[in-house]
Amino acid sequence: MDLVKLGLHGKSILRLVDLSDEQVIGLVELAAELKARKKSGANKKDALLYRKNIALIFQKSSTRTHCATVCGVHDEGGYTEYLNAHDLHFGKKESVKDSARVLGRMFDGIMFRGFAQQTVDDLAKYSGIPVWNGLTDEWHPSQVLADFLTIKEHFGTLKGLKMAFIGDGRNNVASSLMIGCSKVGMDFVDVCPEELSPSRELLEMAREGARRNGSTIEVSHDPVNGVKGANILYTDVWVSMGEEALFQQRLALLRPFQVNMEMVRNTGLAESGKVIFLHCLPAFHDNNTEVSKDCGALEVSDEVFESPISKVFDEAENRLHTIKAMIVSSLAD
Ligand code: CP
Ligand code: NVA
Repeated sequence: MDLVKLGLHGKSILRLVDLSDEQVIGLVELAAELKARKKSGANKKDALLYRKNIALIFQKSSTRTHCATVCGVHDEGGYTEYLNAHDLHFGKKESVKDSARVLGRMFDGIMFRGFAQQTVDDLAKYSGIPVWNGLTDEWHPSQVLADFLTIKEHFGTLKGLKMAFIGDGRNNVASSLMIGCSKVGMDFVDVCPEELSPSRELLEMAREGARRNGSTIEVSHDPVNGVKGANILYTDVWVSMGEEALFQQRLALLRPFQVNMEMVRNTGLAESGKVIFLHCLPAFHDNNTEVSKDCGALEVSDEVFESPISKVFDEAENRLHTIKAMIVSSLAD
């Protein structure tokens, strides 16, 4: 991958909609190259992030995004510092603007996870160094790059496939997938209850990209017919971080939208083997968590989660290679 041509050097990655179609595809290609590079051991000889200092500012919990950033940066010779909400004055005793200006004098880049999109936008604006969005209430761009790498590894292509997102159709992951699909020419259907529909503005943004790339963006409130023809069944938790008070309300709305074997059959592609299941994780697929111990599987049945069509752990591994691609694209010399 020609990093100069990718055009992200010194830049932040805050929302997929800010990237060109070529940049989204280019980041996925770069991630595939970095994955092969790690497997060959080449990163041990010639580190791409040698002595780069990366801060992780995380206001919400994380397993994948945190660990992928740490391992990705260390793989390429850099250093990371993890700072959670309690470690920093950030937004409490010091404005985001002031903290950003301080961190920008010390670090080479910042991976941020938090609530308001405005916070990550301000962090990028005032720090003067590249900032990567590791999830906000609105967007989760780094997740979608890993999803695309996983799909490409499985099907050999992105263009021409159809993804159905089933569940909370207006959350950060659904919105980012919708924009991402529009940029790579993948058909996308948001299968959700009417109350959890994506906004008109988001649909317009996505449809503009889809027109350019010959794909379609649809919304369906029918969990049976909505998934017809989908090659990728994708779901996420029904209650995102920060919305915990809505748990019972969401369960009532979303029970008919569980991804289970009946839904897999309803794609019409189960027999031909042309359907996979993805989930950004963490997932409630059994009763082995504090949250799901009394209610059991929620957004996906254990049968689907543990089945051969489930590629969720390939997808989780690909968070490493795609987050590394984001950081390398912004910082590699
Ligand atoms: N998918 C994802 O972002 O996982 P974490 O919350 O563990 O980072
Ligand atoms: N929509 C979920 C994604 C978690 C990776 C959340 O925001 O909690």
